[in-house]
Amino acid sequence: LANGLGMTPPMGWNTWNHFFCDINETVIRESADALVSTGLAKLGYRYVNIDDCWAEHDRDSKGYLVPRKSTFPSGIKALADYAHGKGLKLGIYSDAGSRTCSQRMPGSLGHEQKDAETFASWGIDYLKYDNCNNGDLKPMKRGDMHPALWADKLGNSWRTTMDINDSWESMVSRADQNEVYAEHARPGGWNDPDMLEVGNGGMSNDEYIVHFSLWAASKAPLLIGCDVRSLSKETLAILGNEEVIAVNQDPLGVQAKKVRMEGDHEVWAGPLSGYRTVIVLLNRSPEFRIITAQWDDIGIPPNTIVEARDLWKHTTMDKRFVNKLKANVRPHACKMFLLTPLPLSE
Ligand code: DGJ
Repeated sequence: LANGLGMTPPMGWNTWNHFFCDINETVIRESADALVSTGLAKLGYRYVNIDDCWAEHDRDSKGYLVPRKSTFPSGIKALADYAHGKGLKLGIYSDAGSRTCSQRMPGSLGHEQKDAETFASWGIDYLKYDNCNNGDLKPMKRGDMHPALWADKLGNSWRTTMDINDSWESMVSRADQNEVYAEHARPGGWNDPDMLEVGNGGMSNDEYIVHFSLWAASKAPLLIGCDVRSLSKETLAILGNEEVIAVNQDPLGVQAKKVRMEGDHEVWAGPLSGYRTVIVLLNRSPEFRIITAQWDDIGIPPNTIVEARDLWKHTTMDKRFVNKLKANVRPHACKMFLLTPLPLSE
């Protein structure tokens, strides 16, 4: 959407993947505090997004949504003020149908103007708009078109997949489904393979590194979905990897694609600003694999000499690479390199 927002993928935290409907204003405030105290806010994670289940079961007598009194007694505006006071932003959730997916609160169908005005009056910065219980209303007159084909006129990102869960199979299949729409991503509008599960405990550390690497290279929204009040050192090292975040937030805004598949391992690659390229060598198998990225596949001109930086080891390799780069990758793991072409004179 050409509203000047989302020139790079949104970054922040959302309640759903960890807390589901079990949310309240204390969790929101403490999570906002944690984003700041862990240093994640300063790395770009600025949106604090409240998902489903924040409102009373019914609208009030004048038709307004009402924050649930038992869990959000201070109201949503107080939380927006709180977030803004910390240099953060507040996001909220509604739904295009009569009720949200949880069925626990009303959706915005027939109340769109009123709800938009309500959210604006509270100082809300971000809206996630779900699509349950809409009586089979089609978003477009032309029927069942994928959101990647129309949502850029309405929003700054759109989901390309059903809900993720905290498992390897779910995660890699979301990345695959999202990759199909790579051509539709650009500054102002991003494909969303769903929020991060990093830190929720269902995957190994290597698997979470794959999750974060693929999301970053795919220019996906980086919305943390774990409890940021109790981050392990390992989780913080993944979510806080500045070099990988910089790939996601690169101003060129081109989504990486799967450029070579060889059975159970593959190469993902995408261009970055400054004629640089990011590659992810992904091993889906339960065994070690040697994976080769070839310049032919990743779009680097033949004979170009390249410097490679390992974005998870945080080291620049002594060796220079010409025409290919080969690496040994652990099972269910990946390596991620930033390739910078060297001037011919070197
Ligand atoms: C479906 C969405 O895909 C989820 O991310 C979450 O917002 C739930 N609905 C909430 O009910």
